[in-house]
Amino acid sequence: MRVIKVGTSEEMGAVAAQIIAERMRAKPHFVLGLATGGTPETTYAELARLHAEAALDFSTTITFNLDEYVALPIEHPESYRSFMNTRLFDKVNINKANTHVPDGNAEDVDAHCLEYELWIEDVGGIDLQVLGIGHNGHIGFAEPGSSLASRTSKVKLTQGTREANARFFENDINKVPTHAISMGIGTILEAETLLMLAGKGKADAIAAALEGPVTAKCPASALQLHPDVICVLCEGAGDKLTLEYQP
Ligand code: GLP
Repeated sequence: MRVIKVGTSEEMGAVAAQIIAERMRAKPHFVLGLATGGTPETTYAELARLHAEAALDFSTTITFNLDEYVALPIEHPESYRSFMNTRLFDKVNINKANTHVPDGNAEDVDAHCLEYELWIEDVGGIDLQVLGIGHNGHIGFAEPGSSLASRTSKVKLTQGTREANARFFENDINKVPTHAISMGIGTILEAETLLMLAGKGKADAIAAALEGPVTAKCPASALQLHPDVICVLCEGAGDKLTLEYQP
């Protein structure tokens, strides 16, 4: 486990984007796993800058997002498809046909979840998966209590997660969807490298994830089972860690 501590969210974005860009340059048809939420925004801004100013090429990149709200129209500004389009896909030379976000409006959700897993398998798996973390230790929308072996499925969002995300829905929790489709913890653990990003307010969640017991009560604690994890932490997110890590 590597832990890189930086000051600001912009510094975190620069470090994370550099790690991703290096890997993308080394491997054509790179399979990049993406996360949403506020935390990775600076990373996506920096990747867009590297595309514009340093010829970072996305033409053969394939992406898979962790999750999507159920029953939120795809054109809603807070759908994760919209988020990815505006923060990254519309700013780089990616082929949108190579970008995958779970379809929260799929008629047969279970069949779609299975299909999503097969798409990942068909391209040889995810090379690097970007992750954020919820205050309760969730990754993607795999909430506490999800099996550590879980696969992509429809999940119920906890009250706390809906409260945390109400800021994206005019601070009205009633507008926050109740369910989502999320990669499972088992799915996430199969990515070659995991790149965890965390900032303000996440110190307790990061300490539980990295140094607490490996338990379904804290889905991110499953990272301790993975052989190649890089955490980039800003704004005090690493302040409650007690062990020594290589940067
Ligand atoms: C969201 C997403 C997660 C994200 C987390 C933290 O609900 N489903 O993928 O990592 O919550 O979000 P933020 O970065 O905005 O704190």
